[in-house]
Amino acid sequence: MAVEKGRYCVTGAGGFLASWVVKLLLSKDSIIHGTLRDPSNDKHAHLKKLDKASENLKLFKADLLDYESLHTAIQGCDGVFHVASPVPYDPVELIEPAVKGTLNVLKACLEAKVKRVVFVSSAASLVMNPKWSQGQVLNETCWSDKEYCRSTKNWYCLSKTEAEYEALEYARINGLDLVTVCPTLIMGPILQSTVNASTLVLIKLLKGVYAFGSMLISMTLDPEGYESLENKLRMIVDVRDVAEAVIMVYEKPEAEGRYICTAHNIKTTDLVEELKSIYPNYSYPKNFVEVEEQPRLSSEKLQRLGLSFRPLKETLTGSVESYKEAGLL
Ligand SMILES: NC(=O)c1ccc[n+]([C@@H]2O[C@H](COP(=O)([O-])OP(=O)(O)OC[C@H]3O[C@@H](n4cnc5c(N)ncnc54)[C@H](OP(=O)(O)O)[C@@H]3O)[C@@H](O)[C@H]2O)c1
Repeated sequence: MAVEKGRYCVTGAGGFLASWVVKLLLSKDSIIHGTLRDPSNDKHAHLKKLDKASENLKLFKADLLDYESLHTAIQGCDGVFHVASPVPYDPVELIEPAVKGTLNVLKACLEAKVKRVVFVSSAASLVMNPKWSQGQVLNETCWSDKEYCRSTKNWYCLSKTEAEYEALEYARINGLDLVTVCPTLIMGPILQSTVNASTLVLIKLLKGVYAFGSMLISMTLDPEGYESLENKLRMIVDVRDVAEAVIMVYEKPEAEGRYICTAHNIKTTDLVEELKSIYPNYSYPKNFVEVEEQPRLSSEKLQRLGLSFRPLKETLTGSVESYKEAGLL
């Protein structure tokens, strides 16, 4: 199922990852139906500047909780890339659009008889489980424990776990061809002008900023009472590789089920050292506290399908140069 010259819907087209998916599909002469909650918002101006956007990108106003708007955008499409998902902290705002929104997308896909749907889930749907032992390597059979997500108030993990699980069940029951991709922390160049949660992780490291409230960067007090960053293992993947992965799992007929998408395992201190060696002049954090080793993830299944990953250095330089260009640094 080569994507060349087909017609595809990309949900949440203006987001960090979705913008790269749109860019890649446009480069293959596909026609794109991009959904946005507010197409008139200036933050989506970058989409219209993409190569071939003027001829082949059509924007639709759609909310994940508004079935009719999704139905309109998906009708006539060969395939759907469901990328949109909320990333706030309020469980009420988060879980319903993620779970019900995904089922709305799938229902519209079924009605439009699309050939295949690719759903961008997350490593969050695998890692949150008290059963995993330190350093264990997780594969696609592993699921986060929903009760554990609830009791630890990890609403984002709960939303992604429930959305992916329900999506796979819906597809199985209704005979819909669905493949899911579960990326870890996505970094790399931004096309959009606004900052998404994972981009903020790198910006905070470059600026030496610690802040409560981000789910992706954890701060604590070290034994002397200074603010310290947890020396966590970061599992990083480049946004361009994730975009390629979601298109690859659409195109390859043999693709099925879930695909973990991760490229580099690196401790936060080593990531800071790597950044310093390329960009010595930023105000990097200095205090770190050691934390328990977390489970790791394996992308073997995706690599067997044919995906290879960029070196970390290319991801870091691509990220930083794009932040500079966007005036974020
Ligand atoms: N970035 C990462 O590290 C990472 C890692 C693993 C998985 N993921 C997954 O990858 C996908 C893209 O993430 P991203 O990093 O590119 O985030 P992003 O830039 O924040 O994009 C999220 C998109 O979802 C849209 N959205 C949120 N709520 C919506 C609703 N109710 N109806 C319609 N659209 C809605 C947003 O639209 P608005 O612009 O209108 O708010 C935005 O376009 C998400 O599914 C995320 O869970 C991301």
